[in-house]
Amino acid sequence: MANAIGIDIGGTKIAGAVVDDLGVIVRSERVPTPKDPLELEDAVVAMIGSFRAAEAAGATLAVGVAAAGFIDAAQSTVYYAPNIAWRNEPFREKLEARTGGTVVVDNDANAAGWAEFRFGAGRLVSDMVMLTIGTGVGGAIVSGDRLFRGGFGAGAELGHLRVVPGGIACGCGQHGCIEQYGSGRALLRMANEIADAGGIGQTLARVRKERGRLHGSDVGALIQDGDPGALAALRQLGHWLGEASASLAAVLDPQRFVFGGGVASAGELLLEPIRESFFDHLPARGFHPEPDFVIAELVNDAGVVGAADLARVWVAEHS
Ligand code: BGC
Ligand code: NA
Ligand code: ZN
Repeated sequence: MANAIGIDIGGTKIAGAVVDDLGVIVRSERVPTPKDPLELEDAVVAMIGSFRAAEAAGATLAVGVAAAGFIDAAQSTVYYAPNIAWRNEPFREKLEARTGGTVVVDNDANAAGWAEFRFGAGRLVSDMVMLTIGTGVGGAIVSGDRLFRGGFGAGAELGHLRVVPGGIACGCGQHGCIEQYGSGRALLRMANEIADAGGIGQTLARVRKERGRLHGSDVGALIQDGDPGALAALRQLGHWLGEASASLAAVLDPQRFVFGGGVASAGELLLEPIRESFFDHLPARGFHPEPDFVIAELVNDAGVVGAADLARVWVAEHS
């Protein structure tokens, strides 16, 4: 089957690619994400235009768009985006009207999880759960070789699984979601808290003092340097994610958990506390098969590769 276009709208950049049916990227583009929703739409339209123009004989490739929000069952409307100003945004309709051809809209983590299932870390299992650890916490569920969407499309919002009753306020309007304890933002908060308390081994506290506040990149660099304060923050994050994974395992019984997103570049340093806490919290531990825990393989490409493939799936199912 033909190539398709995948577009992944992130908080800081829009990544786009033409992807073949083996998940291989043929060409790609990347632009900063405009703050204004109209300019954002213009940027996506321009990208689609430039990809289609580059195709032989002006083929109208199907487009999959991945966005960080609750999406409807028709893969058309963004019901709600906790970290973008979209409320009931009929994104598909707008893009189809402006570009012609098929556009489908999917949740960003669903797209990434689908890519890992088809072409990456999940390709040898039938049941997997993916958690993307970035600004927010995204989730994807593959059950019996199928992407789980729920009855109204907005299932697998795993970032909003509650781990602390009455806990920290979340962008979804609730409190105590795992997004507030297991995301990149949460890692930064935890690192700041450790620095405020004087730090462990003091480097974190010194960097915080020099900068006024820590940036995500400071924490990432300190983790790579093995700074004990930054590593303690990462362990806290991992513990929360492991605890949430144990609850998810009780519901979904996956063979594998896959962790993606920016924070997953910490690799084993993140997986180790996740596993530890998962097994501490797993119901009926020791009496049933246990999943394994791995880092995503497609890294930054998962969103575009998955979005393109989901567009291809949609076209196949509707023609
Ligand atoms: C949103 C999800 C999204 C995740 C990762 C969450 O806040 O609710 O839709 O997948 O962030 O971007
Ligand atoms: Na999802
Ligand atoms: Zn929430």
